[in-house]
Order: sequence, then C-alpha cells, then structure tokens
Amino acid sequence: MNNIQIKNVTVLGSGIMGHGIAQIASMAGYNVTLRDIDQKLLDKAMNNIKWSLDKLVTKNKLTQQKCEDIYNRIKPTINLTDAVQKCDLIIEAVPEIMKLKQTVYAELEKIAADNVIFASNTSTLPITEISKITKRPDKVIGIHFFNPPQLMKLVEIIPGEKTDQHITEAINNFVLSLNKNPILCRKDVPGFIVNRLFIPMVHEACHIRERQHNSLLEIDSVVKFKLGLPMGIFELADFTGLDVIHKATIEMQSRDTNIINKNHIIEDLYKNNNLGRKTGQGFYKYDHIEYTRVNISEDLADKCDPIQIISNIINNAAWLISHDVSDIDEIEKAVKLGLGIKIPIFKTAKKYGIQNIINTLNEMYKKYGDVYKPDELLYKLI
Ligand SMILES: NC(=O)c1ccc[n+]([C@@H]2O[C@H](COP(=O)([O-])OP(=O)(O)OC[C@H]3O[C@@H](n4cnc5c(N)ncnc54)[C@H](O)[C@@H]3O)[C@@H](O)[C@H]2O)c1
Repeated sequence: MNNIQIKNVTVLGSGIMGHGIAQIASMAGYNVTLRDIDQKLLDKAMNNIKWSLDKLVTKNKLTQQKCEDIYNRIKPTINLTDAVQKCDLIIEAVPEIMKLKQTVYAELEKIAADNVIFASNTSTLPITEISKITKRPDKVIGIHFFNPPQLMKLVEIIPGEKTDQHITEAINNFVLSLNKNPILCRKDVPGFIVNRLFIPMVHEACHIRERQHNSLLEIDSVVKFKLGLPMGIFELADFTGLDVIHKATIEMQSRDTNIINKNHIIEDLYKNNNLGRKTGQGFYKYDHIEYTRVNISEDLADKCDPIQIISNIINNAAWLISHDVSDIDEIEKAVKLGLGIKIPIFKTAKKYGIQNIINTLNEMYKKYGDVYKPDELLYKLI
C-alpha cells in the first residue's frame, strides 16, 4: 500500500466546510467532484466558490484564466455513484450526526472501489467507530479542517485504531500539497487536539464568571491581552457558534466524563437559540449586518486572575502529551494555527508558574472533582 496516488478527490457535503475543501483541493490541482443531496445546495456552493475565487482575482492573487480552470475542475453532482466512480480519496463533510455518517459510509462501502481512502472531516466523532461501518478500517482516517478551510492553515490528521501507516502518510502529503500545515493526532481521543483544549476552556471561562464574579469583558480582556488569544474567549465562542460548542461538549462527554466541567450557561444559550454571531446574540449582542468586533479594553485585563483558565488549558495539554497523543511543539503549532493564540501556552504557563498551576488544580480538584486532577506530567515540568 506504499504507492498511493491521489489525483481525484470527491467531497461529500457542499456546506460550510465541504465547498471550501473542494475549492482548495481544486486550487492545488486535484480533479474534484462535489456531492450534495440537493441541486439547490450544490448551486449555492458553486456560487460561493465562484465568489471566493473572484475575490482572489480582484486581489491579484489569481489570474482570470486560473480562476476559471479551478472552477471548472470542480464537478458538482447529486448522484453518489457518479461521484465516487473515479476517485482516489473521499472527504466526507456531511452534518455531525453519527447515524447519518454511518449511513453514508455503509452506502459508500458498497459502491466505492476497494482502494479508495475514506477521510472524515468530523470535529468530534470517533474515527475508529466510523471505520467499523466499513470493510476497510485500514483506509479510514480523520482529516479535520478548520473553518473557513480557504483561510485556516491547520489540518488535524487522526488515524483510527486500524488505519494503515501508509494511509496516514498519504493524507499527510495530501494536506501538505494543499499548502496547509498538518498535525498528527496520534490517538483517536475525544476532541482530538484543538477541541480538547478549546471546548473545556470555554466552560472554564463561564465558571470563572460565576466563581470570581468577573464580567464577560474582564475575562475576555485577560484572555486576549495576557494569554494572546486573537479575541476574547466569549467572543471566540460566539464566532464559533454556541450550537457547535454545545454539540461538541455532548459528544466529548459521552466518550469521557473527565474532560469538561460542564457549565450550564452554554446549554442555556443554545436552548434559547442564542448561538452567537450567526443569530445576533450569544454571550454578546451583535449587529447582524456589519462584522463588528467586541470592543475589549486592555485596561480590564488586570481585573481578572487568569490562573484557573491557564491551569485548565495546560492540564489538558499535559494530558495529551502524557497519553502520547501529541507533544509540546505540535500542541503549540495547533493552538497558534487553530486558535490563533500568539503566545506559546507553555511559555504563559511558566510565566504564571507550574507550581502555582498545580496548586490551583489541586484546590479545584478538591472542590469540583476529578476533571481538575493535575496530570502527572505537570510535576515533571516544575
Ligand atoms: N462548521 C464548522 O465550523 C466545522 C469546522 C470543522 C469541521 N466541521 C465538520 O464538518 C462536517 C460538516 O460540517 P458543516 O458545518 O460543513 O455542515 P453543513 O450543514 O454546513 O453542510 C453539510 C452538507 O452536507 C449535506 N449532506 C447531508 N447529507 C448528505 C449526504 N448523504 N451526502 C452528501 N451531502 C450530504 C447537507 O445537505 C449540507 O449541505 C461536520 O462533520 C462538522 O463537524 C465543521
């Protein structure tokens, strides 16, 4: 299996992620087929791709001819058999519902040639479980792009328990050929790398709001100006969508109850359809028409002690390292490219003191339970 050639790529699902993945694959020279279940959705996706490519022409990043070639290399179809007939790699980007994905893979298994690689863009679902639906678990892998795929440089690669090493290498090369930065999530753990750090952090920020009685803006200020996030954590949660965060929470918790100390605020917002920027109201209220950033003053940063939030992210990062899922360099790359964090998190941890972090975690462990138990690795970092 060590001579894997990828030329023809089929993307299943032409929504937020699928149309972007199809665009970047075509930009890298692959022949792309984009499949959805409804012609109207495909038309919309192709219009979005056209709009995005035209913008690159306006900015002189692409010639008109290249723009047309890229667009014409993408073949939209609603016919699944046509879509998988001549492909080497299928990237599945259908909605994050396990039952739906399982139906899709069962159907694919019947019609795709034996050598075709199945790659899922799932954010949270276990790759190993998805692979069990197929007769080719060695050729099933996670390929987690970030939103929007056209701009975000990071792609997490997640082999399942049975994924062949050659498939992992081929997908790594494929991601490099898209001009993206792959990071390997060595084990199929809940949340993979980035969400394992990000989702618990949003809950922790909500706890801080209640425990320390800080305002949203005070917490966002310290996160932005002292920890180096590109925006406040609540602002980032609103940008990501409270539906995405809530569903990721449920999925991660269903696999392991010891990752997230769930805070009710997120579920409350979700249930009230306050999903963030997309509905005009999340943690903050937004003007629907214009993209306005939350005005976060740096002066407020001193009003919030960030030690609990730092302890949370560092403890989860330590867990990823001690469980051989990743290492410090890869984690720093992941938080920089996936979350936009400008200051390395282990540098921030050292600044605030590893011993201080361990003490904070131990206090929280006693008060709030196992989620906060300091990872053994932290003691080695003192
Ligand atoms: N949106 C994000 O920020 C984001 C980021 C990273 C990963 N993801 C993951 O990417 C996947 C897709 O998410 P999305 O946000 O693009 O969803 P979306 O709802 O925007 O798009 C999904 C598309 O799949 C289509 N679809 C449904 N059933 C299908 C089938 N059987 N065959 C082909 N197409 C089908 C739908 O009609 C829809 O157009 C999910 O697994 C999600 O977790 C999403």
